[in-house]
Amino acid sequence: MNATDHPTGPIWEVIGGLSRFAALAALTELGGPEHLRDAALTPAELAERCGADADALARVLRELAGTGVVASAPGGRYTLTPAGETLCADAPDSMRAAVLMNAGPELRYALDNLPRTVREGRSAFVAEHGTLYEHLSDRPERARLFDDYMTSRAVPHRQAVADRYDFSGVTTLVDVGGGKGHFLSTVLAAHPHLRGVLFDLDHVAAAARDHLKTAGLVDRTEVVGGDFFTGELPAGADAYLLGSVLHNWSDDDAVRILSSVRAAMAPSGRVLVLEYALPDDDRPHVGLDGDIRMLALFGDGAERTRAQYGALLERADLRLDRVIDLPGGVALLEARPLSVEG
Ligand SMILES: C[S@@+](CC[C@H](N)C(=O)[O-])C[C@H]1O[C@@H](n2cnc3c(N)ncnc32)[C@H](O)[C@@H]1O
Repeated sequence: MNATDHPTGPIWEVIGGLSRFAALAALTELGGPEHLRDAALTPAELAERCGADADALARVLRELAGTGVVASAPGGRYTLTPAGETLCADAPDSMRAAVLMNAGPELRYALDNLPRTVREGRSAFVAEHGTLYEHLSDRPERARLFDDYMTSRAVPHRQAVADRYDFSGVTTLVDVGGGKGHFLSTVLAAHPHLRGVLFDLDHVAAAARDHLKTAGLVDRTEVVGGDFFTGELPAGADAYLLGSVLHNWSDDDAVRILSSVRAAMAPSGRVLVLEYALPDDDRPHVGLDGDIRMLALFGDGAERTRAQYGALLERADLRLDRVIDLPGGVALLEARPLSVEG
């Protein structure tokens, strides 16, 4: 039915992704990974521990064996692969929140209503629920899951930023929209001379305080709650990081955020934008899946090319000086003030 040499092959492959993701989300939600980490189990043994039906769970496990999340073991048992281990809630850099957020009501509503979004040219999610951040602001549990999702989403990138960017000339790094502070803690751990300031919405700032305390970074960090559209950003720092922030917003809103940074930064400062950098043509790129999520959830939010970021920076009186390509299709774009006043 899904022979890859038939013209329908690519379509079946895409449809199959739905079933594989549903199986992954079901196993994660049932707490299966935590039990399988303790011991190799038969579907019946796992079903008993999860409170699930053995035959149904056997089919979920069989599907997931094909995806490399679990592996068959002797005696009809299953074990977790290294990928599967990241689904455990307490795994370092756990993927649990990433799976559950993508399987949750916000993404489901946004993606289910993609035809309406495409017809109308504005996000059906935003039309019904407001922006994702407005929606999460009075749903603390979902907001916590989202912050954890952002933390795991950044796993492949944050060590690369700490390792590949030369922070020797930077004294204070402001992480604008820094989430729980996962970038700041990684970068500060690698560069002991740096101080960090985390700026994010009030409820996220509270979570960041806890995270930075646990990371032992209270003495080297400050956390500021605020809104980058209406509040002033911490002023006078020599570097401002915007990690996966601009992709949530329209060109005009992205320029407003960059202009706030431009107004706050030291004249000799720099702005670091970390985003997927899409190719200029239709080549496949991991950021294109993210772009559809941006379209569905934010409407005007978008993944962009290097040239598009260069144009946005210029509108905010910033010059794109350097692009550092990082693993996973992501780039770190360094910009400095275009005009120097005085
Ligand atoms: C996609 S997440 C990225 C988080 C983090 N920088 C990273 O790379 O993982 C965007 C962040 O922007 C924050 N944010 C959204 N609207 C904001 C606003 N108006 N003012 C300040 N922060 C905001 C969110 O709370 C969230 O932490």
